[in-house]
Amino acid sequence: MIIQSLQFEDYRNLSNDIIIPHEGVNVIYGQNAQGKTNILEGIWLLSGNKSFRGAKDKEAVKFGNSKALIKAGFFSENREQEIELAINNGKREVKLNGVKKALASDIVGKLCMVVFSPEHLSLVKSGPAERRIFIDSALCQIRPKFYETLRNYSQTLSQRNALLKDIPEHPELLDTLDAWDWQLAMYGVSVMRMRMNYVEQLCKTASEYHLGISENKEQLELKYHCSFDADDYKNAETLHKAFLESLSNSRSEDISRGYTTVGPHRDDMEININNTNVKLYGSQGQQRSCVLSIKIAEAELIKMAIGQEPIVLLDDVLSELDSRRQEFLLNKITDRQVFISCCELESVKLLKNGKCFEIINGHKTETNVR
Ligand SMILES: Nc1ncnc2c1ncn2[C@@H]1O[C@H](COP(=O)(O)OP(=O)(O)O)[C@@H](O)[C@H]1O
Ligand SMILES: [Mg+2]
Repeated sequence: MIIQSLQFEDYRNLSNDIIIPHEGVNVIYGQNAQGKTNILEGIWLLSGNKSFRGAKDKEAVKFGNSKALIKAGFFSENREQEIELAINNGKREVKLNGVKKALASDIVGKLCMVVFSPEHLSLVKSGPAERRIFIDSALCQIRPKFYETLRNYSQTLSQRNALLKDIPEHPELLDTLDAWDWQLAMYGVSVMRMRMNYVEQLCKTASEYHLGISENKEQLELKYHCSFDADDYKNAETLHKAFLESLSNSRSEDISRGYTTVGPHRDDMEININNTNVKLYGSQGQQRSCVLSIKIAEAELIKMAIGQEPIVLLDDVLSELDSRRQEFLLNKITDRQVFISCCELESVKLLKNGKCFEIINGHKTETNVR
């Protein structure tokens, strides 16, 4: 997928002129608060997702206006297409190839993207929940069945938790717990197996990329962590049995706490470099490179699933990488369209082939780099 033209109208502080991106690397360069992230955010909104900044749609409309428009011409599925997203009085209206769509979410999947902004460092720095959300949303994009299974699991979990809270006052309910345990294990095992499979694939791709970015010095490893022990995590039956056993072992604790203490809602993904946990021991630069490798691998897995290269958006990721890592990032991702924002002219100078857009107060000046 390639964005061929891009236009913003009354969107944040950006001027209304047309941007013609390079089909490879596009560097968005400028001082602070000029509109670099605004550009990446605007592109990202065309994926149909919410802002990666956590901003509300209406905040994207230029001060003093009621409507913003983002338009792009793009090449996908072997043809030129057009997408339009309007934010009108806080509501999204979308058009695809000139046809108005009933739901704003109807454009999801048309322009696939992966984004990495400083907020995404939480993938390494924060607790297990962040990593589960990452795996789950990545899986939802490429495996629609996963979404359904995860929803079933979460519903069963809420019902089991409600029951746990009722049991102390209504001990006769204890008998019904077995049936819930069985159902929880059934959905839970599916969730875990799909996640484990994803993490295994992600690890293969991310570690390869990470060797490149670290000049073969850092072996990145991603490991899925189950909240209970099993003899063989790859065997569905064994896993189901182990999950049931662990539910039964923790039953009295679960009842006294009023919630379920084991299961995929407690799982995690361990991120190691050269056998050392990156969250605990990694430098800022290593943590950043790590997330970067994982994000690039996420893009690779999307490509494998849908047969097209997603667009990669990298907001402010260069600043904490040394020049060799920056150079790798700017010049070694050659097979897909990338938008990278940065504040340092030194970084721009490392680019060998692509386009640079300098942003000053929402206006752009472009330069071709060859
Ligand atoms: N709705 C809006 N209308 C006009 N200007 C806005 C709006 N939202 C943000 N801005 C302006 O955009 C600028 C920040 O842009 P941003 O892309 O975050 O900067 P950076 O170049 O540092 O990434 C600020 O000057 C802010 O005032
Ligand atoms: Mg910014």
